[in-house]
Amino acid sequence: MPSDEINLAEVAATARSRLDPVHWDFIAGGAGDERTVRANTAAFDRLRLRPRVLRDVSKRDLRTRLFGDELSMPVFVSPTGFHRLAHPAGEPATAYAAGAAGTVMVVSMGATTAIEDIAAGGTAVLWFQLYVQPDLAFTAAVIRRAEAAGCRALVVTADSPVFGRRERDLRNGFLDLPSGLACENMRDDTGAVRDIEMDAALTWDSVAWLRGVTRLPIVLKGVLHPDDARLAVEHGVDGIVVSNHGGRQLDGVMATVDALPAIAGAVAGRVPILLDGGVRRGTDVLTALALGATAVGIGRPVLWGLAAGGAAGVRHVLELLRSDVDRAMALTGAASLGDVTPDLVQPVSR
Ligand SMILES: Cc1cc2nc3c(=O)[nH]c(=O)nc-3n(C[C@H](O)[C@H](O)[C@H](O)COP(=O)(O)O)c2cc1C
Repeated sequence: MPSDEINLAEVAATARSRLDPVHWDFIAGGAGDERTVRANTAAFDRLRLRPRVLRDVSKRDLRTRLFGDELSMPVFVSPTGFHRLAHPAGEPATAYAAGAAGTVMVVSMGATTAIEDIAAGGTAVLWFQLYVQPDLAFTAAVIRRAEAAGCRALVVTADSPVFGRRERDLRNGFLDLPSGLACENMRDDTGAVRDIEMDAALTWDSVAWLRGVTRLPIVLKGVLHPDDARLAVEHGVDGIVVSNHGGRQLDGVMATVDALPAIAGAVAGRVPILLDGGVRRGTDVLTALALGATAVGIGRPVLWGLAAGGAAGVRHVLELLRSDVDRAMALTGAASLGDVTPDLVQPVSR
């Protein structure tokens, strides 16, 4: 039973016991020596909260708004591919759980269910994650599909000019989806499924091109450098995701929560900043919010929940985090997210 687990680490353990070890490795793994995978969680470990007291936290409000939609809490589902690998119910189960939890699911371009079918089944606010393809006409057609399916924002992944080198997958020979599964959003008008290509030639002009192709809010995912955050705002993006792709692209890049303060400084409130990577506890969520994020995404924990118990498992992960955030807010003296201010976070002194 998924609801037996009392924290996300326990959900991970259940998932691991149910998954083919090769698929577990695909989900858990990162690039190279996985230093950045570890850094994302280690960076949260080095930060501590400095709570306020006697602030009437009897009523707590976890809600936030992004691009016109309300989220019941500042936690959303980051884009991850191949949900049918984790559970036969796949992306529709994840979307159902996100909708029931009142939050956003970012659907990966590498989803194993078509965006139309994911949208049909639930109430979740969906955003669509895009790798801009060298074939711009095809890219535009994918965007049209996402728009027609009701997606409310486009999340453009910028940290992947080439594929990261994931050595677990190389060692396991896991280089493609098992037969019967396909990236359904990559079907072209002939019905053939195209490979997702990484385009090493992308520039800021690509953002300008996207601006001309869609009216959806554009969220740039994979920003770590404050100068890029500044450029993103100057190029008219509507939001930024501070992300290192969960340590799956370049091993050795900095932890996302370490990158956040400088990016918050560069953006100066002009667009919302989101963050993902290593968020596993309510205190991690509060830490990121205090340092300037409006909401945080979770990648692997969603796949753990899916593998452990389908839609109920994903819901369980989201509700574990919700109650963790709620308790952490009470115990830091925050009745609403506006009370989560930078002074609440302190580095561990050595
Ligand atoms: C199995 C897996 C697949 C992923 N697929 C995508 C993807 O298709 N597009 C994308 O932008 N990010 C992808 N990511 C990265 C996530 O969106 C997110 O940045 C990362 O998982 C956050 O870190 P966390 O797993 O520690 O929460 C993937 C991550 C994992 C673990």
